[in-house]
Amino acid sequence: MYNLILFGPPGSGKGTQSDLLIQHYGLLHLATGDLLRSEVSKKTTLGLEAQKYIDNGQLVPDEVVIGMIDSKLDEHKDSVKGIIFDGFPRTVEQAAALDKLLADRNTEIHQMVALEVSEDVLTQRLLQRGEVSGRSDDNLETITKRIVEYKSKTEPVANYYKERGKLSAINGVGAIEEIFNSIKSVLDTHLSSITQ
Ligand code: AP5
Ligand code: MG
Repeated sequence: MYNLILFGPPGSGKGTQSDLLIQHYGLLHLATGDLLRSEVSKKTTLGLEAQKYIDNGQLVPDEVVIGMIDSKLDEHKDSVKGIIFDGFPRTVEQAAALDKLLADRNTEIHQMVALEVSEDVLTQRLLQRGEVSGRSDDNLETITKRIVEYKSKTEPVANYYKERGKLSAINGVGAIEEIFNSIKSVLDTHLSSITQ
């Protein structure tokens, strides 16, 4: 298996690049934001609880998202070449929990690719997406809170992987195809070194 974390602030292009990467590499896409929004739209107990945090630009409690990932890993355990984690882990606690969930399944995170985008560009992209997305958190007030939450709780996760020699930072501004090519060159170099 080859397991990748696509990391970056809200609006950095994690979802956009994940779509291209899963097509190219045949990996499974696990995006906690998408999973949570699906629970919200089905009005499950988990969804109703999560909605309060999402609408307020705050992170959903760790145990909720860790539990969701745990059951997704079980669901796909025999059928995947690897996984792209998008929007997870988002706290150091989630990163430590993910290490354990993967170790229990005899695998690990191989690489984190972090998309770097300035705050102005993030806000501009998300406001623009908000005109069509219907997402409850794509408004200026919630976008600002999401960025604050990212800086205080999520940014330290990059360091967690840097300390383990697994972090590659990529410029996330420019044409989508160009950014995809930069990610591909990191993965291809890395994949050839681990399969030799
Ligand atoms: P989540 O859904 O993960 O949202 P996010 O991290 O805030 O990021 P986005 O999905 O908004 O942006 P993205 O990086 O995917 O960018 P995209 O490709 O869409 O999380 C939502 C909420 O769920 C959280 O706030 C939290 O409450 C909860 N949650 C989720 N996971 C959690 C966890 N692990 N723990 C706790 N809580 C959790 O691109 C953005 C826009 O820019 C698009 O319109 C796109 O077309 C455009 N764009 C992309 N690339 C480019 C480019 N190169 N040039 C120009 N435009 C571009
Ligand atoms: Mg996304």
